[in-house]
Amino acid sequence: MSLQKTYEFDQIVNDITNHEHFLELKHELHHGISRYEHSLRVAKMTYVITKRLNLDYERATRAALLHDFFTGKDTISYNAKDTLKVHPSIALLNAKKYFDIDEKQANMIEAHMFPICNVMPKYKESWIVTSADKIVASHEMYRYKAQMVLGIWLIFLFNVIAMQK
Ligand SMILES: [Fe+2]
Ligand SMILES: [Fe+2]
Repeated sequence: MSLQKTYEFDQIVNDITNHEHFLELKHELHHGISRYEHSLRVAKMTYVITKRLNLDYERATRAALLHDFFTGKDTISYNAKDTLKVHPSIALLNAKKYFDIDEKQANMIEAHMFPICNVMPKYKESWIVTSADKIVASHEMYRYKAQMVLGIWLIFLFNVIAMQK
């Protein structure tokens, strides 16, 4: 992103990124990185695409940043499969608790797990948020898995070398 865009992006999101409850996401593991970092990536991709397409980029960027606004405490009573379905609604509840969220942004957050969740994206911005999340998540999971495979190979190699000594 250009310096100007980075500055504008910061202006749009800085009350969220510095909010004490949003900062808790720095300690939540998500696709091998923190949920804070993941959310920031989805927000940046949403910002770039929605701005380029002349859409409602400020509100879309903020909603994208809040799309996974939940901690392990919020989902403690759900198993992993159910968490996949319910976390968009939990994120929306948390987002509404601390920030101004309109109906359009609510849909962007609540529909981001479509088609796993039952909420359909109703706006172009909602389709962009759910697509950005899937692209970013695929990239993160691939990288995480690639690192894991590399780690396993290194342990294997280390053991082979150790056995030959
Ligand atoms: Fe999510
Ligand atoms: Fe996500």
